[in-house]
Amino acid sequence: MSIEAPVVVEVGLGDRTYDILIGSGLLARAGAEIARRLPGTRAAVVTDANVAAAHLDALKASLETGGIQTAVITLPPGEKTKSFAHLEEVVDGVLAAKLERGDIVIAFGGGVIGDLAGFAAGIVRRGMNFVQIPTSLLAQVDSSVGGKTGINSPRGKNLVGVFHQPKLVLADTGVLDTLPIREFRAGYAELAKYGLIDRPEFFAWLEKNWVQVFAGGPERAQAIAEACRAKADVVARDEFETGDRALLNLGHTFGHALEAATQYDGSRLVHGEGVAIGMALAYRFSSRLNLASPDDAARVEAHLRAVGLPWRIADIPGDLPDAEALLAFITQDKKVSRGALTFILTRGVGQAFIAKDVPASEVLSFLRENHPKESDRR
Ligand SMILES: NC(=O)c1ccc[n+]([C@@H]2O[C@H](COP(=O)([O-])OP(=O)(O)OC[C@H]3O[C@@H](n4cnc5c(N)ncnc54)[C@H](O)[C@@H]3O)[C@@H](O)[C@H]2O)c1
Repeated sequence: MSIEAPVVVEVGLGDRTYDILIGSGLLARAGAEIARRLPGTRAAVVTDANVAAAHLDALKASLETGGIQTAVITLPPGEKTKSFAHLEEVVDGVLAAKLERGDIVIAFGGGVIGDLAGFAAGIVRRGMNFVQIPTSLLAQVDSSVGGKTGINSPRGKNLVGVFHQPKLVLADTGVLDTLPIREFRAGYAELAKYGLIDRPEFFAWLEKNWVQVFAGGPERAQAIAEACRAKADVVARDEFETGDRALLNLGHTFGHALEAATQYDGSRLVHGEGVAIGMALAYRFSSRLNLASPDDAARVEAHLRAVGLPWRIADIPGDLPDAEALLAFITQDKKVSRGALTFILTRGVGQAFIAKDVPASEVLSFLRENHPKESDRR
């Protein structure tokens, strides 16, 4: 594994400003980087069984070199781990290790571990230090940055949580080599999202360079750094999502409904796949509302298809609830404000905007047209 100088992206939040370090071989420097910023601390590493099997020994050795004493909490992998039961397990593990408020919770895993461990860090002893070491592409380009933490409720995704910013994010692009290809693709959906929101030249770059991003050359770190810059910009402008930050939800309203409709069963649909289908639907819906051209929707679908991502509801295996039930999942989503449907729509590639008061009847007809069973019946 080569150790090269990491790219540093700053998330500017006043006295809570922190760095994201991106590069290959960073795990070996984790202990030193953490000890430099948070000297004299102990840590609880929260991870899942897959990440532990592939990389925990390397992280433990690195933390030891940095003089950081460590307790490890290993959880089962998968979205279902973002639950009250596992939150309790993490809280109990941190307290059992007798960590103080100034000590650190380290999230070492994908977005599931990051969201759960971050939430625990936010509430144990009214807020402990938190460090993110994201190991999935999705977590490196999105969930580890910005301080949103939380768990799911049986009533919907991410409905319980807090904002709690990390002190440091360490994205070792080399650890992605052990990530299953399906998960890499799912993370790629969130990467492409930044191009589709407001960076059309980045989307065009991805259309040309995606093979190298998958292969792991310098383009991979380049793409991750660009995504982190995009996310850091938005978070610095609107930390608590009172405005622009909602743009990052492009594809998520449809995506979350599809995830809920598949009972968060990762064998059918993982989060990033839901986002991919959701983004394609957001473009298609925008074109149906005459906001964007059908060519833009087709271009987005073509790219998602080229990288092997699902892009329509029919790509989800197994039976799905009907369009009305999907709409009910959408209205349960937290981005619905006082009954009015808020969607991220678009006027073209890289021209997303927040649309309030989208009529539910339009959404329902659109879902009917795009629902595999219902469109068969038409
Ligand atoms: N907080 C935020 O701002 C934010 C943003 C986007 C998504 N999310 C959340 O992130 C979650 C999805 O994250 P995810 O896609 O990383 O899922 P995940 O954490 O379930 O990880 C995906 C799978 O990859 C495995 N894995 C991770 N890193 C690995 C590695 N290096 N080698 C081998 N296997 C590895 C995991 O064990 C898991 O099986 C969702 O819960 C979503 O809501 C949060």
